[in-house]
Amino acid sequence: MLYNNKGDKLTSFPWFHKTTIYQIYPRSFHDSNGDGIGDLPGILQKLDYIQSLGFETLWISPFFASPQADFGYDISDYTSIAPEYGTVQDALALIEEVHRRGMKIVLDMVMNHTSIEHAWFQESRSSRDNPKADWYLWRDQPNNWMSVTGGSGWHYAKERGQYFWASFLPFQPDLNYHNPKVKQAMLDVVRFWLDRGVDGFRLDIFNYIFKDAGFRDNPFSFKLLPSEDDSSSFFQQAKYTVNQPESFEFAREFRAVCDEYGEKLSIGEVSGGSQTIRRFLGGEENDGLTLVFDFGMMNFKFTANYFRNLIREMELQYRSPFMPVYVFSNHDKRRSMSNLGGDVRKARLLHTLQLTVRGVPCMYYGEELGMTDARLPFKTALDPIPHKYKYIPRFVFDTLRLAINRDEVRTPMQWDGERNAGFSMANQTWLPVHNDYKRVNVEEEQQDAQSLLNTIRSLLKIRGQERALEEGDLILLDELPENVLGYTRGIEEERVIILLNFEDHEKRFPTDATGVVFNLTGASRLNGKMVTLAGYGAMIMK
Ligand code: GLC
Repeated sequence: MLYNNKGDKLTSFPWFHKTTIYQIYPRSFHDSNGDGIGDLPGILQKLDYIQSLGFETLWISPFFASPQADFGYDISDYTSIAPEYGTVQDALALIEEVHRRGMKIVLDMVMNHTSIEHAWFQESRSSRDNPKADWYLWRDQPNNWMSVTGGSGWHYAKERGQYFWASFLPFQPDLNYHNPKVKQAMLDVVRFWLDRGVDGFRLDIFNYIFKDAGFRDNPFSFKLLPSEDDSSSFFQQAKYTVNQPESFEFAREFRAVCDEYGEKLSIGEVSGGSQTIRRFLGGEENDGLTLVFDFGMMNFKFTANYFRNLIREMELQYRSPFMPVYVFSNHDKRRSMSNLGGDVRKARLLHTLQLTVRGVPCMYYGEELGMTDARLPFKTALDPIPHKYKYIPRFVFDTLRLAINRDEVRTPMQWDGERNAGFSMANQTWLPVHNDYKRVNVEEEQQDAQSLLNTIRSLLKIRGQERALEEGDLILLDELPENVLGYTRGIEEERVIILLNFEDHEKRFPTDATGVVFNLTGASRLNGKMVTLAGYGAMIMK
C-alpha cells in the first residue's frame, strides 16, 4: 500500500499510471475570438470532442504570461495568463469544466529557465549586489559549456559586466537552483496551481535543472548532434550540464510537494537513456516523478522487431511499480504520421500498439487525424531555432530526419474542410493551416468508421472496459511469424491477447485465443485455433 506524506492511504494503482494523455498546443488548437491564435476558451469549447475520443487527461503546453519568443516556453510571470490565451478566470473555468467531466488537467511547468523579461531576471541583471543577484547563473568569464541549440550558452549582460548561462536560447536564462530561495519561489508557483486544483505537471527539460556548482568544463566528445539517449553534442559530453545528482534529488522534493495535495501526476521531459532517466522516478521507493518520457521511441522503426525490443526495454526499466509512457510525437519532434510516410494503415497499427501496451499513452493533438508535418521555409519561420541554422541547406536536416523548424509540427488543428480548417475565423492564422486539411479533418473522419480517428476512439473505449489493458501486466509472445508482434495483458483471471502484423501481407498461425474483442482492419479472422492476420492487421482477443 502507498501512502502520501500526510500518511493517507493511496490506492495501490494510482490514476496517473492508468490514464491516457492528450497534449494540446494552445496556440494551435482552437481560436474562440478570431485573432488567429488558439486560446483557453477555445479549448473549453472542444472538451466534448476530446472526451468523446475517450482521453482522460489533458496536458496543455504553457499559456502563462510570456513574450512568446519561444511560444510560451519563455515565461515572464508564472501566475498570470498570456492575454492572447485568456485570463486566470478562463484557466479556472477550464480546470473546473475538465473536472466536472471527470477528466484531469496537467499544466506545463518550465522551471529550468524564465524569460529574460521575468521580473526576477530583470532584477538579477541590474547589478552584482541586488537581492536576486544570484538567482541566475552568472560568471565573469564563460567556461566551455555549449547550449542545447548549439553555440556557447553564455551571454553577456553589460549592466553587470558578466555572463549569464542559458541552456536553451539566449532569452531563456537558467535559474540557479543551488540557491534555496529560487527553489522555494518555484515550488510556491507549483503550489499556486495545485491550490487551484490542477492534477499535475509536465516538467520541461527537467534534467537540466541543476548544473555543476563548480562550473567544471565539459569533456570532449566525438558527437556532433544530440540523441535521445545521450545529450552530448557539438563535440562535448554534457557531463556537468545535464542529469546532475541534485536533479534526481529535486525530483523527490517536487513529488513531496505534489503529495501534499493527494495523487498528482508529474511527468518529466528528460533524456539520457532509459537507465539514467529512470532515476528521476526515484529509487525502489518510487518517490520521484510519477512518469518520465523516454524519447528514444520517437525515432521508431516500423517493424515488429523494433517494437518487441522497445517493449522489452520498457518492461525492464519501468517494471511495476513504475510505468512507462508511450509517446510518438510532440510539439518539438516530427509527427508520427510523417515518420510513417503518410500511410494511414501503418498509423492505425502504431496506435493500436500505443493504446494496448502496458504504459501511459500520450498523444499530440492531430495525431488522431493523421496530421503530417507541413513544409515551411526556414527564412520566415516563427520558431527561433531554424534561424540559427538558416545557412545550412535544408536537405541536411531532411536526411537526418530532424524537425529543426518546429512550426512544421505546430500547424492549426484541422476541425473541418471549411475556412482555416475550422480553427479560426481570422483572415490569417498565426501559422498556415496544412494544405491537406480538406481530406484530413475531424468532420471527415467522424463519418468514416475505418478512419484513424474512429480507430483510436474504439481502442480507447476498449481500454476503458478491459481492466487487463488498463492495469494488467504484459508478457511478450514468442514463436510468431516474421514481422508479427504479440503480447498478452493480464490481471487476476482476466487476460487479453494482442497480435499486430507489421507487413502488408496476410499471416496465418495458431493461437490460444477463443474470441475477438477488436479487429483493426475487419479482414483478419479467427477460425478455431488458427488466426489469419490481414496485411497491417491487428486483433485484440480473449
Ligand atoms: C522543451 C520544450 C520546447 C522548448 C524548450 C525550452 O524542450 O518542449 O518546446 O523550446 O524545452 O523550454
